Amino acid sequence: MRLAIASDHAGFELKETLKKYLQQTHELVDFGTTKCEPTDYPIVSIKAAQSVAQKECDLGVIICGTGIGSCIAANKVKGVRAALCHSTDFALMSRKHNNANIIVLPGRFIAGHYAIEILKKWLETAFEGGRHQKRIDLITEYERQQS
Ligand code: RB5
Repeated sequence: MRLAIASDHAGFELKETLKKYLQQTHELVDFGTTKCEPTDYPIVSIKAAQSVAQKECDLGVIICGTGIGSCIAANKVKGVRAALCHSTDFALMSRKHNNANIIVLPGRFIAGHYAIEILKKWLETAFEGGRHQKRIDLITEYERQQS
């Protein structure tokens, strides 16, 4: 599986930690940042989100300080369902019910080992489909009407 990964400066350290873990099992495409210098989260988040929307990557992982800005930015890209996850339960539900194709993590609020647990849960959980598919379809239909 090919994963897009991106962060701003506030998520850079966690991004590098997660890359070490993910590199063992996944192909990674890193959309930056490559340093701790101030980086505007919309730039890197939107690039990673576009790669998922265009199916160049299967899923995406984005990190900023709170995760809020990156989640807002990523969700502006048509076809993206980005979920800000603070816990393994949120990771589980974002896949089962929302078919989230991007996980957003709050780099300034969770430790590296817990972020790995959240990410592991997210990657191993499948979308349930059924009644949830109809709700995803309603979002997709709304996006279609906007373009
Ligand atoms: C950067 O200081 C911070 O605003 C950013 O990482 C993020 O938390 C935005 O939502």
